[in-house]
Amino acid sequence: MALLDNSGIRDQFPAADNTLYLDSAHQTPLSRLVRAELDRFYDSALTLAGPKYLWLERVEQVRAKLATFLSVAPEQIAFTKNTSEGLNICANGVQWEPGDNVLLLEGEHPNNAYAWLSKRSAGLEVRLVPNDKKWADADTFASYIDDRTRAIGISHVMFHSGQRNDVASITAATADRGIAVVADSMQSVGVIPLDVPTLGIAALASGSHKGLLTPQGLGFLWTAADTDRLTPTYVGTAGIANARPDLVATADPIELRANSHRFEIGNFNLPAIHALGAALDLIESVGVANIEEHTHELGDQLIEIADSLGVGLVGPRAREHRSPHIYVLDLTQPELPASLAENNARVSPVRDGIRVSFGMYNTSDDVTRFGELLATALKTAPATAGVS
Ligand SMILES: Cc1ncc(COP(=O)(O)O)c(C=O)c1O
Repeated sequence: MALLDNSGIRDQFPAADNTLYLDSAHQTPLSRLVRAELDRFYDSALTLAGPKYLWLERVEQVRAKLATFLSVAPEQIAFTKNTSEGLNICANGVQWEPGDNVLLLEGEHPNNAYAWLSKRSAGLEVRLVPNDKKWADADTFASYIDDRTRAIGISHVMFHSGQRNDVASITAATADRGIAVVADSMQSVGVIPLDVPTLGIAALASGSHKGLLTPQGLGFLWTAADTDRLTPTYVGTAGIANARPDLVATADPIELRANSHRFEIGNFNLPAIHALGAALDLIESVGVANIEEHTHELGDQLIEIADSLGVGLVGPRAREHRSPHIYVLDLTQPELPASLAENNARVSPVRDGIRVSFGMYNTSDDVTRFGELLATALKTAPATAGVS
């Protein structure tokens, strides 16, 4: 039995009872608590149309809550639409000189990669670094760094394999060379405890619809205190320090806020931000370390089942190198996804296999059930891969 099996958390997530929901790396299902917070927001919109100042007070409360959750200062967090927006703010915020280079792992999430690849037209060289040992650390990048390397863009946990990259080792090895490490925490936040200052990174971008349990359409960007290295591409009143209270825009020089609020340009995704407040309360009530351990235990169980069926893992097996919650089974038979879907199992086919991903709401029984379904499906579509 895994750590949180009988904790009552499952009751929060009806979708996990209605389906065999093993797809947290795609989107986590809505919880009752988050739904109640959304209802509260929409009720106040329906009955009182605000008032907006109260909605905005709530935004600042949630920002502070998120800051505490990440062990950072609220001024250094900007709310964004998604991970991609945060990464683009970083890639576009720097004046690149021709010949500057940035390092990315081969196989990076495309939304991370394209943010940097699009800057090649500004003279940035993008170096794709092989991901040979299935997780990355300082050694992975060492021979690709030279004195023109200005940044490394990296997913903390990679979506296509579940590998957990050792971000702290990368920053430790590169800090004295002035290389900015920009981390994408979309697949780790809410599942792996994140004490951002200890990572030594320059920026962290994420969305909130996976481990942070909100609907889609909200993200955040944290940048280190020297944010003014980054120039925003878009500018609006929210990001301007000398905007006038009477909202008259004058021809005076624009003074951008010295913190990450310079990246906020207009009205917020209020319902999603309010929802994030409730989601953070739920996550804190369970404890991220417990979510990590619980999903690791489900992963141990899944690996045992995969071994017994002769099915390999695309990503690493060792706990220290794998994410607790994402497992890609080395199964490429085209008929398998449909067969699992017919049996109400929600997983994601990804480029190298079938991705099974857990959330706090999954239980050991879910994994057992998945194993039974997989064993049956494999009788008509036998596994060809070896155990890796
Ligand atoms: C590692 C990673 N980065 C970025 C994204 C895309 O995020 P967004 O839609 O928030 O830009 C995903 C998946 O959705 C992801 O897994």
